[in-house]
Amino acid sequence: MDFPKVVITRRIPRQAIELLEQHATVFLWDKEEDAIPQEVLLEEVKDAHAIYTNVSDRIDREVIASAPLLKVISTMAVGFDNIDIKYATERGIAVGHTPGVLSETTADLTFALLMATARRVVEGHDYVKSGKWTSWSPMLMTGQDIYGATIGIIGMGRIGEAVARRATGFGMNILYYNRNPRPEVEEQLGAKYCLMDDLLQESDYVVLLAPGGIGTNKLMGDREFGLMKPHAIFINSSRGTNVDEAALYRALSEGQIWAAGLDVFDVEPTPTDHPLLSLPNVTALPHIGSASIATRTNMAMIAAQNIIAGLLGNELLHIVNPSVYEN
Ligand code: GLV
Repeated sequence: MDFPKVVITRRIPRQAIELLEQHATVFLWDKEEDAIPQEVLLEEVKDAHAIYTNVSDRIDREVIASAPLLKVISTMAVGFDNIDIKYATERGIAVGHTPGVLSETTADLTFALLMATARRVVEGHDYVKSGKWTSWSPMLMTGQDIYGATIGIIGMGRIGEAVARRATGFGMNILYYNRNPRPEVEEQLGAKYCLMDDLLQESDYVVLLAPGGIGTNKLMGDREFGLMKPHAIFINSSRGTNVDEAALYRALSEGQIWAAGLDVFDVEPTPTDHPLLSLPNVTALPHIGSASIATRTNMAMIAAQNIIAGLLGNELLHIVNPSVYEN
């Protein structure tokens, strides 16, 4: 019997490819930096049984419709807002993702971004390297205190909880907003549930960790930034689409809020002439929340195992649309 075909849309760790090659014929878009062009993807999926994808691909209705043999889509990510889940489910295609394994690593990066933004780490680094540092000065690179401040976490999922745990080590007062209150997090970490407007008004740090998608599109806009304190810092390591970037630019440039640390953008990669990148009070990163060697390797292996399970007709390790098993 012929091996099923897997389309892998980007260079992934070798061991994940080797695992897949034991079960399938692999088409690999073997590029480290460049996403697979949509026309190549559309061509390659025509006879594919599985797609191994990531956050930079668009697995929309057109891609799925071009793949009549498709049984499984597996993303090397926790988020799946780049995949047409509804249509995949209608077609009976299982969609897998990699939750859990990346929570602590993403919380590390979120906290690193918070600290770097508050204490102007990147600005200070550039200042020293460019030879601008002429003497110690009392108010040079002064930032905001982290210890004892109030952090407001929007989206108290696994990553939010891991960020809250870090915040306890910094003596922070923890507020959170979530679709459903999380009593166990309140009990264990002393976090306090509040409405989004109250969180925005009371927090020194607003950390956005809500999933992407239609329900959270432009969750943060003019009104929301307008409620924040003038010395408050906004951190986003969720999805750029959750933020109205023009509103964020206005808030930052007009001093409505103090600074922002952004790991994600509406369009990625962000064009270098994007207005947000011209602001000194923006710390920007290239969507690297889960990017530790160990975690990315684990994610790659879980995504491969999801594919193999799907090809063998077994339940995926982590499934986005369990209703595919109902019929
Ligand atoms: C990254 O953004 C992910 O969803 O894993």
